[in-house]
Amino acid sequence: MPETVLVTGGAGFIGSHTCVELLAHGYEVVVVDNHVNSSPRALERIAKTAGRPLTAAYDTDVRDRGALAEVFAAHRVDAVIHFAAHKAVGDSVARPVEYYDTNVGGTCALLSVMHEHDVRRLVFSSSCSVYGDAQNVPLTEHSPVAPTNPYARTKLMCERILADVCAHLTDMKVLALRYFNPVGAHPDGLLGEDPHGVPDNVMPYVAQVAVGRRERLSVFGDDYPTPDGTGVRDYIHVMDVAEGHRVAVEHLDDDTGMRVFNLGTGTGTSVLELVAAFAEASGRDIPYRVVDRRPGDVAELVADASAVAAAWNWTTARDLAAMCRDAWRFQELNPRGYAR
Ligand code: UD1
Repeated sequence: MPETVLVTGGAGFIGSHTCVELLAHGYEVVVVDNHVNSSPRALERIAKTAGRPLTAAYDTDVRDRGALAEVFAAHRVDAVIHFAAHKAVGDSVARPVEYYDTNVGGTCALLSVMHEHDVRRLVFSSSCSVYGDAQNVPLTEHSPVAPTNPYARTKLMCERILADVCAHLTDMKVLALRYFNPVGAHPDGLLGEDPHGVPDNVMPYVAQVAVGRRERLSVFGDDYPTPDGTGVRDYIHVMDVAEGHRVAVEHLDDDTGMRVFNLGTGTGTSVLELVAAFAEASGRDIPYRVVDRRPGDVAELVADASAVAAAWNWTTARDLAAMCRDAWRFQELNPRGYAR
């Protein structure tokens, strides 16, 4: 019997790629998504890309315990991957209650429904933003946590809730994955990142400049203590993030309790290096202008990716050129994202 994985937020950027990866490995996949920041069209494309349909998809808010309970009653769920959350840092400062309600409240609702239905296996979507303004890179899972905004605090709170739940329900198996900067797209060009409005993040912004939707990139500061003065991040291909989740599901039974892993490559890239790599991959000019630093930004965030490598014998496989090439292919084939 293939395992059934329930994916909350399965129509989103990372969720949709993870669904394809799970389908490609024979899992039955049930999606729960309320589409506040995702397109239902991504669901059609998941099936097309994977060559297999989802088992089911529900237009459901994870905070709606009644609706969630119906989903668990309809499917024998073996494991849950919980992506559904708000994720924009600036927005979280403007709307903190919504962030706590959806991210923390949604996780609690999910945990109680999982408990009622005896589902004990969970992979949780966490974030490197829990480390805050890191003093020492690369960051290990033991580096101090000091989130600097409500979004990051919701992720850390969820981790703490999960740790407490695991201490109480000793047969629970939880893996929290702290992603660094997921970028790129599925190489077939059907699935990618489709932010609503002006992109907050650098990669989708650069892609929209390359395709002519935006005039130029604003580079937020070139006076950081980094080799070229621009911010350094650990960009990780979304296909590697997706694969990491599938491998995590395979390793849920390694142990009971709560375990935390970084999901990054261990390689830092500056904004200017990213711009150069994208120009090379797309053959387009990427005009940019250096402006002031963005409030809340930090100089450098790079993962120590060795824990996951040791625990699962797994590492990321795709480099910056592949991230840019695939992000560009999606942008070129879908200049307006999932909008028809
Ligand atoms: C942000 C969030 C992080 C979240 C991630 C993905 C913060 C502090 N962190 O990461 O929690 O997981 O998004 O959603 O916001 N940059 C420019 N011009 C732009 C946009 C960005 O120069 O128009 C620079 C930034 O200054 C930074 C780098 O590009 O140095 C990456 O920025 P971004 O893509 O927004 O990601 P983070 O801020 O690292």
